[in-house]
Amino acid sequence: MAQSLDPATREVLLARVRFYRDLGLTEYYRRPVDPALAAQFAAESEASESSVQNQTGVLPPTPRAPSFPLLSAERVGNHEPQPASAPHAYPLEDQPIPPRKPFPAAPEISAAVPAAGRAAALQLIRDEIGDCTRCPLHKGRNKLVFGDGSPTARLMFVGEGPGADEDAQGLPFVGKAGQLLNNMIAAMGLRREEVYIANVVKCRPPGNRVPEQEEGATCTPFLFRQIDVIRPQVLVALGATAATWLLGARQPLAGLRGRVHAFRGAQLIVTYHPAYLLRDPRQKKEAWADLQIAMRELGLKPPAKA
Ligand code: URA
Repeated sequence: MAQSLDPATREVLLARVRFYRDLGLTEYYRRPVDPALAAQFAAESEASESSVQNQTGVLPPTPRAPSFPLLSAERVGNHEPQPASAPHAYPLEDQPIPPRKPFPAAPEISAAVPAAGRAAALQLIRDEIGDCTRCPLHKGRNKLVFGDGSPTARLMFVGEGPGADEDAQGLPFVGKAGQLLNNMIAAMGLRREEVYIANVVKCRPPGNRVPEQEEGATCTPFLFRQIDVIRPQVLVALGATAATWLLGARQPLAGLRGRVHAFRGAQLIVTYHPAYLLRDPRQKKEAWADLQIAMRELGLKPPAKA
């Protein structure tokens, strides 16, 4: 009889299986060490196939996203707003980004906070933000999304801004893109509670549009202070907006991926936004290559190949 798994372990293992399967690495989960677990995996993966498809929207592969001419003029801000119901688009991750106003200088890196004081230090930043009205995004906000995860995380992810689900719950990456991010984290051998997740802006841009210059410039000093408190060893920028605001570099994502940047004492790796990967699952292999750079920097062992 198959050995039973506790629900948390089962969820982590299934998340890995889904992520690797989406990458085409089917052999990885066909050959676990324990034959009893192998049988259980196979049965559970089959059984959960349809619910996985509902959760991630990536099985079977979705057709290539159409181009979005309204967004092609400019990738960062100052573009035509999308209709209120539009999902995160990320259609043009590799398009050139035209020059705009210079980015504001990032604040000085603040002094190190001892691990035991980091939760309280983050709370102080949250208190200072308060019921924020510093930029126009507050007008459409339900809940401000400060960030979530371990205050002592070695790995931190930065996305663009809350979507509808995040705005409703006050937590980052809890919608469909968040489920894919959870799978990516699990594939790295980590639990979501072990990492920290935040965004360039803490309030939902209307219609999920890219944050405007003023909005990013107002909000990122708080993000930088969160980074200074947490002191992650590795930061992963999810998508062009995060990469642009962290690096202050308006470069196409293609030029920023595949290498390690230095940012506020962390090693910064740039990869695709999970919402973009949901639209174009063929890029998951590329994203996995980026995550493996992060794993290498963190000293995490890559999973055994078949
Ligand atoms: N997309 C983001 O960039 N951040 C979130 O929190 C959710 C979706």
